[in-house]
Amino acid sequence: MKRRPLLAGNWKMHTTVIDACQLAAAIGKCSAGLADRDVLLAPPYTVLSEVAHVLQGSDVLIASQNVCWEAEGAFTGEISPTMIKSAGGTAAIIGHSERRQIFHEDHAIINKRVLGALAFGLIPVFCVGETLEEREGEKTFEILEEQLREGLAGVSLQDMGKTVVAYEPVWAIGTGKTASKEQAQEAHAFIRKLLAEMFEKNIADTVRILYGGSVKPDNVDELMAQTDIDGALVGGAALDADSFCRIINFI
Ligand code: G3P
Repeated sequence: MKRRPLLAGNWKMHTTVIDACQLAAAIGKCSAGLADRDVLLAPPYTVLSEVAHVLQGSDVLIASQNVCWEAEGAFTGEISPTMIKSAGGTAAIIGHSERRQIFHEDHAIINKRVLGALAFGLIPVFCVGETLEEREGEKTFEILEEQLREGLAGVSLQDMGKTVVAYEPVWAIGTGKTASKEQAQEAHAFIRKLLAEMFEKNIADTVRILYGGSVKPDNVDELMAQTDIDGALVGGAALDADSFCRIINFI
């Protein structure tokens, strides 16, 4: 079965207010009328409400790039699910490899963020992926299983049905070295099979699994043609309106 595609742009630590609004407006224009797929943007916190305002009335979904598990409190530097919702966000990227690798977020913290997002009605876009060393050491599936089991611990069947998973091989992020369609499909199929074991097959069959890692206009079509690839989580190319517009209009 093919699931409704989701094309997501992760702007990471890029854009000031002006260029964020210009980029959002361009994407709002080129995504208008796309009735058979979803488009999501994950701007930095500082421009999230402005981007949501620019896209008000469009079908473009807004996500944060992380989220705390509490609605408020003494969590310096954190942003709460309710703050994100009040600013117009409906989803949150969680467990991105940059949070894991650079900021040392472990499974426990990431799992708290997933459960917190769900508790407050945000859709998690839960990221997993192996490093080059792990892939070359033939540990890819072991790592993916650990990340999925630890990160999704305690998620109910119903909430898993709302959750999006993103497979982002760390060695493909920002490197221009995209996973081949075969490599990506193999990882996605493994993830879906494991989700069926952890939850139920009918839930796993509905979960959208995005591929992330150097998705570009010249490779999106062949990636999206794979059985278990339901969308893309795009970094660099999402910052260029023409490139991201071509990606969301994949054939
Ligand atoms: O979250 C998406 C990102 O990690 C992929 O980045 O620049 O390889 O498309 P990029």
